[in-house]
Formats: sequence, structure tokens, C-alpha cells
Amino acid sequence: MTTRRQFFGYAGAAAAGAAATGGAVVALHNDLEMPPVRAIEPYGEHQVGINAASPRHAELVAFRLATDKAGLGRLMRLWTNDIVALASGRPAPGDTAPELAIGNVALTVTVGFGPRVFELTGNKPPGLDDLPVMKHDRLDAAWSGGDLLVLVGADDPVSVVHAVRRLVADAKPFATPAWRQTGFWNNTGSDGQPVTGRNLFGQVDGTGNPAVGTPEFDSTVWSTDGPEWFRGGTTLVVRRIRMNLDTWDELTRSEQERAVGRNLSTGAPLTGTAEHDELDLEARDANGRLVIAENAHARLSHHTENDGRRIFRKGLNYVHDTGATRESGLIFLSHQADVAGQFLPLLARLDAVDALNEWTTTIGSAVFALPPGFQPGSWLAQKLLG
Ligand code: HEM
Repeated sequence: MTTRRQFFGYAGAAAAGAAATGGAVVALHNDLEMPPVRAIEPYGEHQVGINAASPRHAELVAFRLATDKAGLGRLMRLWTNDIVALASGRPAPGDTAPELAIGNVALTVTVGFGPRVFELTGNKPPGLDDLPVMKHDRLDAAWSGGDLLVLVGADDPVSVVHAVRRLVADAKPFATPAWRQTGFWNNTGSDGQPVTGRNLFGQVDGTGNPAVGTPEFDSTVWSTDGPEWFRGGTTLVVRRIRMNLDTWDELTRSEQERAVGRNLSTGAPLTGTAEHDELDLEARDANGRLVIAENAHARLSHHTENDGRRIFRKGLNYVHDTGATRESGLIFLSHQADVAGQFLPLLARLDAVDALNEWTTTIGSAVFALPPGFQPGSWLAQKLLG
């Protein structure tokens, strides 16, 4: 499937080639041979990073707010200018390292507001509250909560770090960083074609997601009711989930596959052969055992088992080194129109019985409302703060 990003990429490459050679026809016919231009326009009905594939490199910064509603509005105007510049490969105003701003790196910046912001502004999206602590959670305040979020993604880690540095510098009079998380993901197969990426357990992760651009995706992700300013926005749950690779690696391959109910090499359900085959949740083996086990993660989280509730997940792998010791895990990101209505019941169900709980521990948790996108001449969350 050609993603929106590739579409823009190749179309952009063709146009650039045409301009350079003066031969539009030649360039257009050769467009698939040209290196893709990976620029993502900053403008849109929705914040553009949400529809884009998981970035190769990403940093999330949560901030504690130290200003009032007017100050937050000033910060959103500043950040909107920064985002437009950085996404276009230009230095933002006041940039102290302008050479680090480069184009063609699929840079996106997504901004969110934590629940406490709405004590200042009013108009809180319903259901946007910190998640209750689950039985298996071992939350560390160092990775939890936050009033503002920026999520910067790009193909290149230097660009991510540079953009974050700019955004944090501009936030200084208004907000200070509370936590930072860095992650990475690979959506490209060895033949250069897009694939569903893998988490550090080695599992294909993201298959069951609603596909971007489908009615199913739209109804899962975008808010259509609630406060007027939030129409076209969404929510983001950030869970930092530690994965015990040592005990996971002690399992046999078939034990690992049973925990999720999917094949490790292809990502196919254990009742099918191809990644996108539908799960057969009734199928039994010769001994009468369910092929996709009762406590298998893919069964418990499947929408048919959850009153049709869906979420849109994006993973970022992380490693965290302290001296010679490495911790590994997943920065689990979930978009949904309504946290309390869609995400929380699913989380509670998984916390109660999911087979994966044996090897995973959530150590950070945060919830944000992501305002809709902006157009030239407008700015982020203008309808809330303007
Ligand atoms: C480290 C923790 C986790 C790991 C390693 C993990 C891994 C996976 C894998 C391998 C799949 C199957 C492939 C796919 O459909 O993407 C999957 C599916 C899914 N997971 Fe997770 N997951 C984790 C945490 C969570 C959490 C916390 C939630 C939500 C509260 C969740 C919700 C889902 C959903 C909704 C699906 C799709 C099920 C379907 O429609 O078939 N996962 N996960």
C-alpha cells in the first residue's frame, strides 16, 4: 500500500526533478527511481504527525506549565511558527544552531495538553483524566503525567534533537520539562518497502490497527462531539512499558507465539497464514484447545471482544542504559477520540488477564488531548486559547 507520506514524497521528487531538468515528462515517468523526498506539510485539519507512520526516531517531552491561559496562547503561537519552520527544513526564529535545520527528514511535531491545563482554560474534553493505577503498574513519577506534550518525530535523530532543543528553549518562560523519552521504530523491510514494524520481543506490532484514511480510522481517532474547539482533535495515551527480555528469551518460540496468538515470523494469527488474515477465535486444535488461547493478547484486545471498541496504536521501542545495565521496552502510544470510553475498558481487561503481563510492566503513564491541526494564518489550539 502506498502511504500518504510516500505519495507526497514521490510526487515531490518528481516535481523537484522536473524543475531541475526542465523535463516534466521525463521526471514524471522516472519518478519511482528518484530518491523520495520525505517532507510532511505542517498544515492540516488534524495535526499531521498523527496520520503519519511511526517515526524512525522520536522524542517526547512533557512539560509542567507555569503560566496562565494568555501565556499558553503565546506559547502556542511561538510553537506554531517553530513547527512550520522546522517542518520546512528552515531554522526557527532565534535558532542558535541554524545549520541543524534540514529538510526532507519527515519531521513532524505533535502537541498535546494534559488534564490540568483545562483547569486554566475550561472546555475539557470529556473523559480526559489521568488513568487509574492498574494492578500490574509500577508507575514512576519520573515518567508520568505532564501538562503539555511535544512529540517530535523524524527520519534522523539529529533533526529530532535539534527541533526539541528549539521547542524547549521557546517554552522556557512558560513551561519546564517534566520528563523526556526517546524511542525508535522501523517500518521498512530489507527490500526498502513499508512493513509493519516490530517491537523488541520481535513481534510484528500494529497489524490490528484501523488503516489511516478509512471510516473506521476516522471514527476511532477523531473527536466529533465534546467541546467545539476539540473537533478534529484526538487524545493520546503514553505508557512506558518495560519488557523483560531475559525471561522472554527463556521461552520456546511456540510459547512466545501463544502469549499473543500470532506467528512471530509473519505476524499472522495462529489460525491463519498471512499477516492480515482475520483471527478465528473459535478454532480449536486436535486436543480441543483454543488455538488462540483464552488469555492471548491478540484475543483480549481484539475489537470483537471489546464491544467494538478500537484504538489506534503506535509503538516506539526504547532502551535505557545506566552504566552497563540496559532496560528495554515499548513507548506505547494510543490514539482514540475518548480515553475513558475506548481505552480504559481495554486497559482494565488486559491488566486483569493478559498473558503478556508476565513479561511487561508499565512504569510511566500520561494522557493528553491533541488539538486539531492548523492552517496558514492560524495557530495551534487557537479556538481554545484565542
Ligand atoms: C509491551 C506491551 C505490549 C506489547 C508487546 C504488545 C504487542 C502486541 C502485538 C504483538 C499485537 C498483535 C499485532 C497487532 O495487531 O498489532 C498487539 C495487538 C494489539 N494490542 Fe498490544 N501490546 C502491548 C500492550 C498493549 C496495551 C497496553 C494495549 C491497550 C491497552 C494493547 C492493545 C492492543 C490492541 C487493541 C491490539 C490489536 C488487536 C486486534 O485487533 O487484533 N496492547 N499487541
